[in-house]
Amino acid sequence: KVLKMEEPQVQKFKLKENTELRIESEPNSKVTIQLDEGSAEVFGSELQLGNSVDVSGKSIAVYTWSECSVTVTGNPTMIYEASETPMASYLNVHEVLQQRRKAALAAGGCCRGPRVLLAGPTDSGKSSIGKMLINWAVRANWEPTYVDLDIGQNSITIPGCVAAVVADTQIDLELSFEPFLPLVFFYGNASSETNPQYYKKCVENLAAVLEKRCDISPEAAAAGYIINTMGFIEKLGYDLLKHAIVALKVDVVLVVNNDRLQAQFTTDFGVKSGSSSGAIPRPVMSSTEEPLPALSSPPTLVKLFKSGGVVERSTVLRRRTREDAVHRYFYGYKGELRPVLLSTAATQLSIFKIGSISKIPSAVLPIGAKAVVDPLALQPVAPGSMDLIQSVMAVSNATAADQVATSSVAGFVLVKEINTAKGMVSYTSPAPMTASSKYFVLGSIRSNID
Ligand SMILES: Nc1ncnc2c1ncn2[C@@H]1O[C@H](COP(=O)(O)OP(=O)(O)OP(=O)(O)O)[C@@H](O)[C@H]1O
Ligand SMILES: [Mg+2]
Repeated sequence: KVLKMEEPQVQKFKLKENTELRIESEPNSKVTIQLDEGSAEVFGSELQLGNSVDVSGKSIAVYTWSECSVTVTGNPTMIYEASETPMASYLNVHEVLQQRRKAALAAGGCCRGPRVLLAGPTDSGKSSIGKMLINWAVRANWEPTYVDLDIGQNSITIPGCVAAVVADTQIDLELSFEPFLPLVFFYGNASSETNPQYYKKCVENLAAVLEKRCDISPEAAAAGYIINTMGFIEKLGYDLLKHAIVALKVDVVLVVNNDRLQAQFTTDFGVKSGSSSGAIPRPVMSSTEEPLPALSSPPTLVKLFKSGGVVERSTVLRRRTREDAVHRYFYGYKGELRPVLLSTAATQLSIFKIGSISKIPSAVLPIGAKAVVDPLALQPVAPGSMDLIQSVMAVSNATAADQVATSSVAGFVLVKEINTAKGMVSYTSPAPMTASSKYFVLGSIRSNID
Protein backbone atom coordinates (compact mmCIF):
# COMPACT_ATOMS: atom_id res chain seq x y z
CA LYS A 1 0.00 0.00 0.00
CA VAL A 2 1.37 3.45 -0.90
CA LEU A 3 1.15 5.85 1.99
CA LYS A 4 0.33 9.47 1.47
CA MET A 5 2.95 11.84 2.94
CA GLU A 6 0.56 13.26 5.54
CA GLU A 7 -0.51 9.85 6.76
CA PRO A 8 1.59 9.01 9.83
CA GLN A 9 3.37 5.71 9.51
CA VAL A 10 3.58 3.44 12.57
CA GLN A 11 6.75 1.35 12.72
CA LYS A 12 7.75 -1.11 15.43
CA PHE A 13 11.35 -2.07 16.18
CA LYS A 14 12.91 -4.71 18.40
CA LEU A 15 16.43 -3.68 19.38
CA LYS A 16 19.10 -6.13 20.56
CA GLU A 17 21.53 -5.25 23.35
CA ASN A 18 24.10 -2.52 22.62
CA THR A 19 22.41 -1.32 19.47
CA GLU A 20 20.72 1.92 18.56
CA LEU A 21 17.90 3.10 16.36
CA ARG A 22 18.81 6.35 14.59
CA ILE A 23 15.98 8.64 13.63
CA GLU A 24 16.18 11.87 11.62
CA SER A 25 13.20 14.08 10.82
CA GLU A 26 12.20 17.47 9.47
CA PRO A 27 10.91 20.15 11.88
CA ASN A 28 7.56 20.37 10.08
CA SER A 29 6.76 16.66 10.21
CA LYS A 30 5.65 15.25 13.54
CA VAL A 31 7.59 12.20 14.69
CA THR A 32 7.15 10.56 18.08
CA ILE A 33 8.81 7.60 19.75
CA GLN A 34 7.50 5.33 22.47
CA LEU A 35 9.22 2.65 24.53
CA ASP A 36 6.94 -0.42 24.70
CA GLU A 37 9.17 -2.92 26.44
CA GLY A 38 12.62 -3.18 28.03
CA SER A 39 14.84 -0.17 28.66
CA ALA A 40 16.35 2.43 26.39
CA GLU A 41 17.80 5.93 26.49
CA VAL A 42 18.29 8.90 24.20
CA PHE A 43 21.66 10.60 24.80
CA GLY A 44 21.68 9.12 28.30
CA SER A 45 18.16 10.22 29.19
CA GLU A 46 15.96 7.24 30.10
CA LEU A 47 12.77 6.68 28.15
CA GLN A 48 9.70 5.95 30.28
CA LEU A 49 7.62 2.90 29.33
CA GLY A 50 4.47 3.87 27.44
CA ASN A 51 5.32 7.59 27.20
CA SER A 52 5.21 9.14 23.77
CA VAL A 53 8.11 11.55 23.19
CA ASP A 54 8.16 14.16 20.42
CA VAL A 55 11.41 14.04 18.41
CA SER A 56 10.25 16.15 15.44
CA GLY A 57 13.02 18.04 13.68
CA LYS A 58 15.73 16.28 15.64
CA SER A 59 18.30 13.71 14.84
CA ILE A 60 18.55 11.21 17.66
CA ALA A 61 19.44 7.65 18.61
CA VAL A 62 17.42 5.33 20.86
CA TYR A 63 20.11 3.24 22.51
CA THR A 64 19.63 0.08 24.56
CA TRP A 65 22.19 -1.61 26.84
CA SER A 66 19.90 -4.65 27.17
CA GLU A 67 16.93 -5.04 24.81
CA CYS A 68 13.82 -3.09 23.96
CA SER A 69 10.82 -2.57 21.71
CA VAL A 70 10.04 0.90 20.36
CA THR A 71 7.23 2.33 18.27
CA VAL A 72 8.00 5.21 15.92
CA THR A 73 5.03 7.21 14.64
CA GLY A 74 5.28 9.71 11.79
CA ASN A 75 7.44 10.03 8.71
CA PRO A 76 11.12 10.30 9.59
CA THR A 77 13.44 11.24 6.72
CA MET A 78 15.81 8.51 7.84
CA ILE A 79 15.47 5.58 10.22
CA TYR A 80 17.89 2.68 10.68
CA GLU A 81 19.41 0.36 13.25
CA ALA A 82 23.13 0.42 14.01
CA SER A 83 25.08 -2.10 16.03
CA GLU A 84 28.49 -0.44 15.81
CA THR A 85 28.58 2.49 18.19
CA PRO A 86 31.23 4.07 20.45
CA MET A 87 28.77 4.01 23.38
CA ALA A 88 30.81 1.50 25.43
CA SER A 89 33.85 3.81 25.27
CA TYR A 90 31.73 6.78 26.35
CA LEU A 91 30.39 4.77 29.28
CA ASN A 92 33.98 3.87 30.21
CA VAL A 93 34.76 7.56 30.49
CA HIS A 94 31.72 7.93 32.76
CA GLU A 95 32.96 5.09 35.00
CA VAL A 96 36.34 6.77 35.41
CA LEU A 97 34.64 10.09 36.22
CA GLN A 98 32.50 8.33 38.83
CA GLN A 99 35.63 7.01 40.56
CA ARG A 100 37.11 10.49 40.59
CA ARG A 101 33.90 11.95 42.02
CA LYS A 102 33.79 9.39 44.81
CA ALA A 103 37.45 9.92 45.62
CA ALA A 104 36.96 13.70 45.72
CA LEU A 105 33.95 13.46 48.01
CA ALA A 106 35.74 11.03 50.31
CA ALA A 107 38.68 13.43 50.56
CA GLY A 108 36.37 16.22 51.69
CA GLY A 109 36.16 19.86 50.73
CA CYS A 110 39.79 20.25 49.72
CA CYS A 111 39.38 18.06 46.64
CA ARG A 112 37.81 18.79 43.31
CA GLY A 113 35.97 16.19 41.25
CA PRO A 114 36.50 15.79 37.50
CA ARG A 115 36.30 18.86 35.29
CA VAL A 116 35.79 17.55 31.81
CA LEU A 117 36.08 19.58 28.62
CA LEU A 118 34.83 18.25 25.29
CA ALA A 119 36.82 19.41 22.28
CA GLY A 120 36.56 18.52 18.64
CA PRO A 121 35.57 19.75 15.20
CA THR A 122 32.02 20.79 14.32
CA ASP A 123 29.57 17.91 14.03
CA SER A 124 31.66 15.40 15.91
CA GLY A 125 29.02 14.73 18.56
CA LYS A 126 30.49 16.84 21.41
CA SER A 127 27.19 18.19 22.67
CA SER A 128 25.56 14.75 22.51
CA ILE A 129 28.41 13.15 24.49
CA GLY A 130 28.15 16.00 27.00
CA LYS A 131 24.43 15.25 27.47
CA MET A 132 25.18 11.56 28.03
CA LEU A 133 27.86 12.26 30.63
CA ILE A 134 25.51 14.64 32.44
CA ASN A 135 22.56 12.26 32.34
CA TRP A 136 24.54 9.24 33.49
CA ALA A 137 25.94 11.27 36.40
CA VAL A 138 22.46 12.52 37.36
CA ARG A 139 21.12 8.97 37.22
CA ALA A 140 23.86 8.00 39.70
CA ASN A 141 22.64 10.82 42.03
CA TRP A 142 25.33 13.40 41.31
CA GLU A 143 24.61 17.00 40.41
CA PRO A 144 27.40 17.99 38.06
CA THR A 145 27.63 21.48 36.61
CA TYR A 146 27.00 21.68 32.89
CA VAL A 147 28.98 24.50 31.28
CA ASP A 148 28.28 25.58 27.71
CA LEU A 149 30.95 27.80 26.16
CA ASP A 150 29.43 27.54 22.68
CA ILE A 151 28.25 31.03 21.74
CA GLY A 152 26.85 29.81 18.40
CA GLN A 153 24.62 26.94 19.53
CA ASN A 154 24.26 27.41 23.26
CA SER A 155 22.05 24.71 24.77
CA ILE A 156 21.33 26.61 27.99
CA THR A 157 20.24 30.02 26.79
CA ILE A 158 20.25 32.27 23.72
CA PRO A 159 23.24 32.51 21.36
CA GLY A 160 26.04 34.92 22.27
CA CYS A 161 26.36 33.64 25.85
CA VAL A 162 28.55 31.44 27.95
CA ALA A 163 26.47 29.78 30.64
CA ALA A 164 26.30 27.11 33.33
CA VAL A 165 23.59 25.16 35.12
CA VAL A 166 23.53 22.71 37.97
CA ALA A 167 22.18 19.53 36.43
CA ASP A 168 19.85 18.13 39.08
CA THR A 169 17.55 16.23 36.73
CA GLN A 170 18.18 14.43 33.46
CA ILE A 171 18.32 16.56 30.35
CA ASP A 172 14.97 15.72 28.92
CA LEU A 173 14.64 15.56 25.13
CA GLU A 174 11.72 17.96 25.04
CA LEU A 175 12.53 20.24 27.93
CA SER A 176 16.17 20.91 27.35
CA PHE A 177 17.54 22.97 30.27
CA GLU A 178 14.50 25.06 31.07
CA PRO A 179 13.79 24.07 34.67
CA PHE A 180 17.15 25.23 35.93
CA LEU A 181 18.27 28.70 36.95
CA PRO A 182 21.26 29.31 34.74
CA LEU A 183 24.33 31.44 35.37
CA VAL A 184 24.75 33.46 32.19
CA PHE A 185 27.42 35.85 30.91
CA PHE A 186 26.50 37.76 27.77
CA TYR A 187 29.30 38.05 25.22
CA GLY A 188 26.88 39.44 22.67
CA ASN A 189 27.90 37.88 19.38
CA ALA A 190 27.69 34.42 17.83
CA SER A 191 31.33 34.65 16.73
CA SER A 192 34.29 34.78 19.12
CA GLU A 193 36.37 36.66 16.56
CA THR A 194 34.71 40.03 17.16
CA ASN A 195 36.25 40.48 20.62
CA PRO A 196 38.15 37.38 21.76
CA GLN A 197 39.58 39.11 24.82
CA TYR A 198 36.09 39.82 26.09
CA TYR A 199 35.06 36.23 25.34
CA LYS A 200 37.94 35.10 27.55
CA LYS A 201 36.85 37.51 30.27
CA CYS A 202 33.32 36.06 30.16
CA VAL A 203 34.77 32.55 30.59
CA GLU A 204 36.98 33.73 33.47
CA ASN A 205 34.07 35.43 35.20
CA LEU A 206 31.92 32.33 34.84
CA ALA A 207 34.79 30.19 36.18
CA ALA A 208 35.17 32.45 39.22
CA VAL A 209 31.50 32.13 40.21
CA LEU A 210 31.57 28.34 39.77
CA GLU A 211 34.78 28.09 41.79
CA LYS A 212 33.13 29.95 44.68
CA ARG A 213 30.28 27.46 44.64
CA CYS A 214 32.80 24.60 44.83
CA ASP A 215 34.47 26.32 47.79
CA ILE A 216 31.27 26.21 49.82
CA SER A 217 29.82 22.92 48.58
CA PRO A 218 31.98 19.77 48.71
CA GLU A 219 29.21 17.89 46.83
CA ALA A 220 29.23 20.39 43.96
CA ALA A 221 33.03 20.35 43.91
CA ALA A 222 33.09 16.54 43.80
CA ALA A 223 30.43 16.24 41.09
CA GLY A 224 32.61 18.39 38.82
CA TYR A 225 31.91 20.04 35.49
CA ILE A 226 31.05 18.83 32.01
CA ILE A 227 32.10 21.59 29.59
CA ASN A 228 30.78 21.82 26.05
CA THR A 229 32.74 23.88 23.53
CA MET A 230 32.48 25.21 19.98
CA GLY A 231 33.70 23.28 16.97
CA PHE A 232 36.13 26.14 16.34
CA ILE A 233 39.50 24.42 16.84
CA GLU A 234 41.92 26.25 14.53
CA LYS A 235 44.11 29.25 15.42
CA LEU A 236 42.01 31.55 17.64
CA GLY A 237 39.59 28.66 18.28
CA TYR A 238 42.44 26.57 19.64
CA ASP A 239 43.73 29.48 21.71
CA LEU A 240 40.27 29.87 23.28
CA LEU A 241 40.10 26.15 24.09
CA LYS A 242 43.46 26.30 25.86
CA HIS A 243 42.32 29.41 27.69
CA ALA A 244 39.13 27.66 28.86
CA ILE A 245 41.11 24.63 30.07
CA VAL A 246 43.25 26.87 32.27
CA ALA A 247 40.47 29.23 33.38
CA LEU A 248 38.13 26.43 34.47
CA LYS A 249 40.98 24.29 35.85
CA VAL A 250 40.03 21.41 33.59
CA ASP A 251 41.64 18.06 34.40
CA VAL A 252 40.15 15.82 31.70
CA VAL A 253 40.04 16.81 28.04
CA LEU A 254 37.99 14.55 25.78
CA VAL A 255 39.14 15.02 22.21
CA VAL A 256 36.54 13.79 19.77
CA ASN A 257 37.64 12.65 16.36
CA ASN A 258 40.68 14.81 15.75
CA ASP A 259 44.23 13.49 16.01
CA ARG A 260 45.73 16.85 15.12
CA LEU A 261 43.97 18.58 18.01
CA GLN A 262 45.00 15.73 20.29
CA ALA A 263 48.63 16.17 19.21
CA GLN A 264 48.50 19.94 19.77
CA PHE A 265 47.16 19.51 23.29
CA THR A 266 49.79 16.86 24.02
CA THR A 267 52.55 19.24 22.96
CA ASP A 268 51.15 22.26 24.76
CA PHE A 269 50.08 20.66 28.01
CA GLY A 270 52.34 17.62 28.25
CA VAL A 271 50.88 14.20 28.91
CA LYS A 272 49.67 13.47 32.40
CA SER A 273 51.22 10.05 32.90
CA GLY A 274 55.02 9.92 32.89
CA SER A 275 56.96 12.96 34.05
CA SER A 276 56.02 14.02 37.56
CA SER A 277 57.46 17.52 37.29
CA GLY A 278 53.99 18.79 36.49
CA ALA A 279 55.43 21.82 34.75
CA ILE A 280 53.24 22.76 31.85
CA PRO A 281 53.52 25.79 29.71
CA ARG A 282 50.90 28.41 30.20
CA PRO A 283 48.87 29.14 27.05
CA VAL A 284 50.40 32.04 25.21
CA MET A 285 48.45 35.23 25.67
CA SER A 286 48.98 38.65 24.26
CA SER A 287 50.76 41.08 26.54
CA THR A 288 47.69 43.21 27.24
CA GLU A 289 46.12 40.42 29.29
CA GLU A 290 46.80 39.48 32.86
CA PRO A 291 48.13 35.93 32.85
CA LEU A 292 46.07 33.18 34.43
CA PRO A 293 47.86 31.03 36.98
CA ALA A 294 49.14 27.81 35.40
CA LEU A 295 47.36 24.53 36.10
CA SER A 296 48.87 22.61 39.01
CA SER A 297 49.04 19.48 36.86
CA PRO A 298 48.44 18.79 33.18
CA PRO A 299 45.00 17.54 32.17
CA THR A 300 44.44 13.94 31.14
CA LEU A 301 43.81 13.70 27.40
CA VAL A 302 41.33 11.09 26.22
CA LYS A 303 40.71 10.31 22.58
CA LEU A 304 37.14 9.46 21.65
CA PHE A 305 35.70 8.23 18.38
CA LYS A 306 32.85 9.99 16.67
CA SER A 307 29.58 8.08 16.42
CA GLY A 308 28.51 7.08 12.92
CA GLY A 309 25.11 8.52 13.80
CA VAL A 310 26.24 12.14 14.09
CA VAL A 311 24.54 14.19 11.43
CA GLU A 312 26.19 17.20 9.80
CA ARG A 313 24.27 20.43 10.01
CA SER A 314 24.35 23.11 7.34
CA THR A 315 24.96 26.80 8.03
CA VAL A 316 21.31 27.41 7.17
CA LEU A 317 20.19 24.92 9.79
CA ARG A 318 22.60 26.41 12.33
CA ARG A 319 21.22 29.89 11.72
CA ARG A 320 17.72 28.56 12.12
CA THR A 321 18.70 26.85 15.37
CA ARG A 322 20.03 30.19 16.65
CA GLU A 323 16.80 31.98 15.72
CA ASP A 324 14.75 29.21 17.33
CA ALA A 325 16.75 29.57 20.52
CA VAL A 326 15.77 33.26 20.79
CA HIS A 327 12.15 32.42 20.04
CA ARG A 328 12.19 29.70 22.68
CA TYR A 329 13.60 32.13 25.24
CA PHE A 330 10.61 34.43 24.84
CA TYR A 331 7.84 31.94 24.03
CA GLY A 332 9.00 28.77 25.83
CA TYR A 333 9.79 25.39 24.36
CA LYS A 334 6.18 24.57 23.58
CA GLY A 335 4.85 28.11 23.34
CA GLU A 336 3.84 28.04 27.01
CA LEU A 337 5.20 31.52 27.82
CA ARG A 338 3.25 34.70 27.12
CA PRO A 339 5.79 37.47 26.56
CA VAL A 340 4.67 40.97 27.50
CA LEU A 341 5.40 44.39 26.03
CA LEU A 342 6.82 46.79 28.60
CA SER A 343 7.63 50.49 28.25
CA THR A 344 10.27 52.47 30.11
CA ALA A 345 11.37 56.08 29.93
CA ALA A 346 14.59 56.27 27.94
CA THR A 347 16.14 58.32 30.75
CA GLN A 348 15.77 55.30 33.05
CA LEU A 349 17.90 53.06 30.84
CA SER A 350 21.67 52.76 30.73
CA ILE A 351 22.60 50.78 27.66
CA PHE A 352 26.16 49.77 26.84
CA LYS A 353 28.11 47.94 24.21
CA ILE A 354 31.27 46.29 25.42
CA GLY A 355 34.64 46.83 23.73
CA SER A 356 35.79 49.92 21.95
CA ILE A 357 36.83 49.51 18.36
CA SER A 358 39.49 51.73 16.86
CA LYS A 359 38.31 54.04 14.09
CA ILE A 360 41.80 53.89 12.58
CA PRO A 361 42.15 51.26 9.82
CA SER A 362 44.35 48.40 11.03
CA ALA A 363 46.77 48.96 8.12
CA VAL A 364 47.96 52.23 9.66
CA LEU A 365 48.14 50.92 13.23
CA PRO A 366 51.54 49.95 14.65
CA ILE A 367 52.49 46.34 13.93
CA GLY A 368 50.79 44.02 16.40
CA ALA A 369 48.17 46.54 17.50
CA LYS A 370 44.60 45.32 17.29
CA ALA A 371 41.47 47.04 16.05
CA VAL A 372 39.85 46.41 19.44
CA VAL A 373 41.38 49.18 21.52
CA ASP A 374 39.98 48.25 24.87
CA PRO A 375 38.11 44.93 24.89
CA LEU A 376 36.29 45.73 28.14
CA ALA A 377 35.51 49.40 27.57
CA LEU A 378 31.87 50.42 28.00
CA GLN A 379 30.41 52.23 25.02
CA PRO A 380 27.20 54.03 25.94
CA VAL A 381 24.36 53.54 23.45
CA ALA A 382 21.73 56.27 23.11
CA PRO A 383 18.35 54.75 24.14
CA GLY A 384 16.77 56.68 21.25
CA SER A 385 18.90 54.96 18.64
CA MET A 386 16.72 53.33 15.98
CA ASP A 387 19.36 50.57 15.58
CA LEU A 388 18.00 49.17 18.81
CA ILE A 389 14.77 48.01 17.25
CA GLN A 390 14.58 44.19 17.11
CA SER A 391 17.84 43.98 19.07
CA VAL A 392 18.24 41.64 22.00
CA MET A 393 19.51 43.38 25.15
CA ALA A 394 20.78 41.56 28.21
CA VAL A 395 19.52 42.76 31.59
CA SER A 396 22.70 43.07 33.61
CA ASN A 397 22.99 42.00 37.24
CA ALA A 398 25.34 44.96 37.76
CA THR A 399 24.38 47.53 40.39
CA ALA A 400 26.84 50.15 39.12
CA ALA A 401 28.10 50.98 35.64
CA ASP A 402 31.66 49.88 36.38
CA GLN A 403 30.42 46.32 37.02
CA VAL A 404 28.62 45.92 33.71
CA ALA A 405 31.50 44.30 31.81
CA THR A 406 32.09 41.71 34.53
CA SER A 407 28.54 40.93 35.74
CA SER A 408 26.32 38.01 34.83
CA VAL A 409 22.94 38.73 33.30
CA ALA A 410 19.46 38.10 34.69
CA GLY A 411 17.75 37.66 31.33
CA PHE A 412 16.99 39.30 28.01
CA VAL A 413 14.55 41.73 26.44
CA LEU A 414 13.86 42.47 22.79
CA VAL A 415 13.48 46.14 21.80
CA LYS A 416 10.28 46.67 19.80
CA GLU A 417 9.59 50.38 19.59
CA ILE A 418 11.23 53.71 20.22
CA ASN A 419 9.03 56.73 20.69
CA THR A 420 11.36 59.71 20.53
CA ALA A 421 8.53 62.23 21.06
CA LYS A 422 7.50 60.63 24.35
CA GLY A 423 11.04 59.47 25.18
CA MET A 424 9.86 55.90 25.70
CA VAL A 425 11.44 52.56 24.81
CA SER A 426 9.18 49.50 24.49
CA TYR A 427 10.50 45.99 24.71
CA THR A 428 9.29 42.41 24.90
CA SER A 429 10.08 40.51 28.06
CA PRO A 430 9.32 36.83 28.80
CA ALA A 431 8.02 37.84 32.24
CA PRO A 432 5.54 40.60 33.11
CA MET A 433 7.86 42.29 35.59
CA THR A 434 10.06 45.28 34.93
CA ALA A 435 13.74 44.62 34.51
CA SER A 436 15.59 44.13 37.78
CA SER A 437 18.29 46.58 36.78
CA LYS A 438 18.67 49.73 34.73
CA TYR A 439 21.85 48.42 33.10
CA PHE A 440 21.45 46.77 29.73
CA VAL A 441 24.07 45.24 27.46
CA LEU A 442 23.72 45.34 23.73
CA GLY A 443 25.51 42.89 21.45
CA SER A 444 24.77 42.10 17.84
CA ILE A 445 22.05 39.50 18.45
CA ARG A 446 18.88 40.51 16.64
CA SER A 447 15.59 38.73 16.13
CA ASN A 448 12.55 39.36 14.00
CA ILE A 449 10.11 37.70 16.39
CA ASP A 450 7.14 39.67 17.76
N1 LIG B 1 24.16 8.45 17.52
C1 LIG B 1 23.44 9.40 16.92
N2 LIG B 1 22.39 9.08 16.13
C2 LIG B 1 21.67 10.03 15.50
N3 LIG B 1 21.92 11.33 15.58
C3 LIG B 1 22.96 11.73 16.37
C4 LIG B 1 23.77 10.79 17.08
N4 LIG B 1 24.71 11.49 17.76
C5 LIG B 1 24.51 12.79 17.50
N5 LIG B 1 23.46 12.95 16.66
C6 LIG B 1 22.94 14.23 16.11
O1 LIG B 1 23.95 14.77 15.27
C7 LIG B 1 23.93 16.19 15.33
C8 LIG B 1 25.29 16.72 15.69
O2 LIG B 1 25.67 16.25 16.97
P1 LIG B 1 26.19 17.22 18.12
O3 LIG B 1 25.35 18.43 18.23
O4 LIG B 1 26.38 16.41 19.35
O5 LIG B 1 27.61 17.60 17.50
P2 LIG B 1 28.61 18.75 17.95
O6 LIG B 1 29.98 18.22 17.78
O7 LIG B 1 28.24 19.24 19.29
O8 LIG B 1 28.31 19.86 16.86
P3 LIG B 1 28.70 21.43 16.95
O9 LIG B 1 30.16 21.52 16.65
O10 LIG B 1 27.87 22.08 15.92
O11 LIG B 1 28.39 21.90 18.31
C9 LIG B 1 22.87 16.56 16.35
O12 LIG B 1 21.68 16.87 15.66
C10 LIG B 1 22.69 15.27 17.17
O13 LIG B 1 21.39 15.20 17.72
MG1 LIG C 1 27.75 21.18 19.97
